[in-house]
Amino acid sequence: MSTQIDHLMNETRKFAPSVEFAAGAVATPDLYESAHANREEFWASQARELLHWHTPFEHVLDWSNPPFATWFADGELNVAYNCLDRHVAAGNGDRVALLWEGENGDERRITYAELTAEVSRVAHVLEDLGITVNDRVAIYLPMIPEAIVAMLAVARVGAVHSVVFGGFSADSLRARIDDAGAKVVITADGGYRKGKVSALKPAVDMALADRGNGEQESVEHVLVVKRGGNEVEWHEGRDLWWHDVVPAASDEHTAKAFPAETPLFILYTSGTTGKPKGIVHTSGGYLTQAAFTHLNVFDLKPETDVYWCTADVGWITGHSYVAYGPLANGATQVIYEGTPDTPHPGRWWEIVEKYRVTTLYTAPTAIRSFMKIGRHVPQKFDLSSLRLLGSVGEPINPEAWMWYRSVIGTDLAPIVDTWWQTETGAIMISALPGITATKPGSAQVAVPGVSIEVVNEAGETVANGDGGLLVVTEPWPSMLRGIWGDPDRFVETYWEKFAAQGYYFAGDGARRDEDGDIWLLGRVDDVMNVSGHRLSTAEIESALVAHEATAEAAVVGAHDEATGQAVVAFVIIKQSYLEAHSLDGLAGALRAWVGEQIGPIARPRDVYIVAELPKTRSGKIMRRLLRDVAEGHEVGDTTTLADTMVMATIKGQVTKAK
Ligand code: WTA
Repeated sequence: MSTQIDHLMNETRKFAPSVEFAAGAVATPDLYESAHANREEFWASQARELLHWHTPFEHVLDWSNPPFATWFADGELNVAYNCLDRHVAAGNGDRVALLWEGENGDERRITYAELTAEVSRVAHVLEDLGITVNDRVAIYLPMIPEAIVAMLAVARVGAVHSVVFGGFSADSLRARIDDAGAKVVITADGGYRKGKVSALKPAVDMALADRGNGEQESVEHVLVVKRGGNEVEWHEGRDLWWHDVVPAASDEHTAKAFPAETPLFILYTSGTTGKPKGIVHTSGGYLTQAAFTHLNVFDLKPETDVYWCTADVGWITGHSYVAYGPLANGATQVIYEGTPDTPHPGRWWEIVEKYRVTTLYTAPTAIRSFMKIGRHVPQKFDLSSLRLLGSVGEPINPEAWMWYRSVIGTDLAPIVDTWWQTETGAIMISALPGITATKPGSAQVAVPGVSIEVVNEAGETVANGDGGLLVVTEPWPSMLRGIWGDPDRFVETYWEKFAAQGYYFAGDGARRDEDGDIWLLGRVDDVMNVSGHRLSTAEIESALVAHEATAEAAVVGAHDEATGQAVVAFVIIKQSYLEAHSLDGLAGALRAWVGEQIGPIARPRDVYIVAELPKTRSGKIMRRLLRDVAEGHEVGDTTTLADTMVMATIKGQVTKAK
């Protein structure tokens, strides 16, 4: 981290938008002025302008019971209607909504009229299965159009979706289904990944297997899309094929209006404890900010742009910038099922060329992996259609930013580095293309209507040039409304630290430069960021100690060239296990174990078997010291350790293992 901070401190390059870009930009400087003049009125006018309200709202924000906010609470809308029917009604039914590319080369083009019809059919199917307002539906699908159809159909009937990333294990799925009490699961037989069909349905079957403890199963039905063509087990009465029930349903479905605060989805994300948090978002405020930021940050021209966000719908970026923002704005977008290097390392650039993609939104980790392969790969393709590039998920180092700009953006396309979180629901900090002169590595400025500060531990705003903690000082429309089933944890996690000021604590470190621009410096808590995915040290530690060999485990996020951070685990093996087994292959087995327990993204890069862990006198593991070892640095201050010799022992064991 310190080398990265040094780089960031020395970065002074600036790129003003071209005159042409600025002249044609959607966002104009008066957005900042009107938001500044009256923030609530600003959001109210965005909500009215960007969305269709069945019942117009009068109340904008209710912040009388912080941190529980409501926005537009007396208004009524239907989220799916806003993403579908109204575009058809406006004469844009023939516009392509989804340009889908399967990993195996399959293609589908789906217009707004077709998407509306398909979502209507699925809405009927869900209603026939007894799904109604506030019921939860889990979605566990590959990146196929049905993933978006399923989300919108759930929204259309006023129910709540919980999308679980297809890379998560049966156990992770089970925990999420249980926490939300889902009644229906929508999945597929399998999907294409890395040139092969990767099965999904078996994980659902495993998750729903009888636990033998008499616990009531909340799931009544599993709706299965056929995509992989792989053999699947079938549970008569519970399982339904999508292709049997959906085409048979009517494509006419009246979208009912629901109050703006109706929950839209739950999305689980890692926190500082072992248990993932079910972040709750509601309808009107969420859709307003998702649409507003998608339009202005991505300079959307719906008639001519071809937008592509590479995120999976299993993450918040896929919710706000694949499903809701783009569709609310009537955009035409590409979605791609597979991995970037299948069947060849230029697959993404081939897709950009093929569909004449104008706007690409992706993560720094992807950019760095393309950098590693070399510019000769993208340079084989015609990327001249690209006019705007976006970055999200982790700090983008200036080198990657410059490469993105010159190789992918051919030195012309502005880059927007967007900071936000699952909890914030939509982009909070970003340049506005056409207005902001961009700086490599800095997310820069709060979007209009959002109030961000960098503060010290006492909650006081730091001077320009100084670092501190990132906070949001005023409520915003797409803010999380809570943690599913755990209001205390919601208050504790985000609002307690700066309770006196009433600030939302994001968990990120940041600094302001001399111009007041914001630079993100990574998490300040026990949350790691691996390839732009949030992982909790505690969750991986608890998976490790669930293995029969492990007595104790400590996990840290160590700097990694490719993935930003990498998971590095230190484990102590049980004496009883040591007596009966050899240690050969155990580190590898523990890596694989974590992959099975949580999902492949959580698999540690390194597992070190050690005799002891560094602890303070009160027994707290000092992860900072382990991080030093994992990164090969000089080990920092050890004076607070109960046993100051322990680090020398650990270093010796790690060096031997390397
Ligand atoms: C990090 C992803 C620096 C940050 C949308 C945040 C970023 C966490 C950026 C949220 C960025 C996201 N620059 N860091 N542009 N965007 N982050 O919930 O640490 O998966 O707290 O949401 O990612 O991750 P999440």
